[in-house]
Amino acid sequence: MAGDGNPCPLSTVDICPASPNTLPMLMFKAKVSDDWMDMVRNHVSQVLLDHAHLERKAATTALTLERYPQLHKKALELNAIAIEELQHFEQVLGLMEKRGIPFGQAAHSPWISGLMKHMRKGRDKQVIDHLICCALIEGRSCEKFQILAEGLKQEEPELADFYASLVESEGNHYATYLLMAREIDEDETRSRLDDFLDVDAELIVQPNPTPMLH
Ligand SMILES: [Fe+2]
Ligand SMILES: [Fe+2]
Repeated sequence: MAGDGNPCPLSTVDICPASPNTLPMLMFKAKVSDDWMDMVRNHVSQVLLDHAHLERKAATTALTLERYPQLHKKALELNAIAIEELQHFEQVLGLMEKRGIPFGQAAHSPWISGLMKHMRKGRDKQVIDHLICCALIEGRSCEKFQILAEGLKQEEPELADFYASLVESEGNHYATYLLMAREIDEDETRSRLDDFLDVDAELIVQPNPTPMLH
């Protein structure tokens, strides 16, 4: 899916992956707050550290998904995502090193824990919910990276270019996870995606003193 040069438009909160004909757009029901970008400008070091952990966790999550029997046949695809996320992690660590920012403890993400606590137990239920949570995390990354690519252009052109370079990859990860869930159960995925978008909309507007990427 990569390489068609069709990243998501910054002006909307829709996530439109590279294959819109095969996948309905992920319609977020709430926007990232307008002051988020202003907060980023004052916390660039924390944002990079948070980003490093986001990529690290994305890599380990892709490997964790391989444990579900329903996804055994997707091991190669999930490995490819894990490798890509590790490459992103390495790139962020490189940028941090260049700026003298030490790698340290991850900040708690109330948004992710808020999403994950709605995951159900059960054979197909759990894997579908897990894949939808992963898709939302990738989708919000895609959206926030676009905001950063635009918002950092003037004062941080290197970072702006870096974020622009990641948008398509995260959009593709979003699409891949959602397609995997739909392959297991189309109707259930549609219904649960709607539920999780409600949860996301409640969580994303909660005030947070630091501008988390996830
Ligand atoms: Fe990534
Ligand atoms: Fe990703």
